[in-house]
Amino acid sequence: FPLFWGIDIGGTNIKVGLVDSTGQTLAYEIIPTEESKGAQAAVNRTAAQVTAIENRLGLQREQIPRIGLGAPGSMDLPAGMLIEPPNLPNWWQFPIRDSIAKALGRPVSFLNDANAAAYGEFWLGAGREHSSMILLTLGTGVGGGIIVNDELINGVNSFGSECGHVIVNSASDAQLCVWGGGRGQLEAYASASAVVQRTRQRLTDGASSQLKGLLGGGDQELTAKKVYEAAIAGDTVANEIIDETARWLGIGVTILVHTIDPGLVVLGGAMDFGGADSPVGQRFLQKIKDEFEERTFANVFAGTKLEFATLTSNAGYLGAAGYARKEQIDSETKT
Ligand code: BGC
Ligand code: NA
Repeated sequence: FPLFWGIDIGGTNIKVGLVDSTGQTLAYEIIPTEESKGAQAAVNRTAAQVTAIENRLGLQREQIPRIGLGAPGSMDLPAGMLIEPPNLPNWWQFPIRDSIAKALGRPVSFLNDANAAAYGEFWLGAGREHSSMILLTLGTGVGGGIIVNDELINGVNSFGSECGHVIVNSASDAQLCVWGGGRGQLEAYASASAVVQRTRQRLTDGASSQLKGLLGGGDQELTAKKVYEAAIAGDTVANEIIDETARWLGIGVTILVHTIDPGLVVLGGAMDFGGADSPVGQRFLQKIKDEFEERTFANVFAGTKLEFATLTSNAGYLGAAGYARKEQIDSETKT
């Protein structure tokens, strides 16, 4: 049985996993992205790790016929290019797919990072029982991955499934998108950066909160994780910020569910406010549901599920490997 590499490129780390046809991980490595050193340097380091693992396990190239690669947008999938990913400012206009294919001597299946994570959850995680699902990843940005009738939506302009760019606030003074593009996008309200920005605003406006000491920055920097910890400790501002975030997500989920009508919406990414195991995470999820139910046809969508992701930070490389497996099977049945 063939094996597949899954590579998940993020602003901080590159995750690389060797995955078999059943989704088992045989080897795994985390490589620092070192974004400022440029894309080619990162490709070289990644290829060196991959080759070292293959040698250590005594694997031949033929046993790993294809590599899956997920990276943040914006991108040009047919050309294999990163275009202007905001979290990789020194990697713009880089031909990442062919650069990796050349370094490792194999074809690369290239996709958006959140699309890869969605494919991972669909193949092995929360979406296993579903043929149509949506994943939202909450992190530095808000990513999305949509699967309809077992097919990932990549789009005509490589911008399919960009759920973070759905407009949830049409007001003329709505938050600006971090990209500088439009206003009122979900990412401007529900990303970790947006949570930090809104909290900071509330504190400088004079709200009393245990987070106040973090306004100075430095080691004690205000982060979404700090907001979560304060919320657990009962901090009112922190809890209000999380509730607001849920409200914006509820609007986004309503738009997306009305468009796709999936069986499942999954929340993934690092900013899960403790997830299903935490009372704050549970309330976060419930508030999203409440907002959705208030805005939708409750009877129609009574069976639509909203859940936390189950593959945590592994979803990206697992999904990239799974997608490579799918494209390999497709290419073999074509010939
Ligand atoms: C980008 C997406 C990406 C997401 C998560 C967004 O800013 O537009 O392409 O999936 O961040 O990395
Ligand atoms: Na996406």
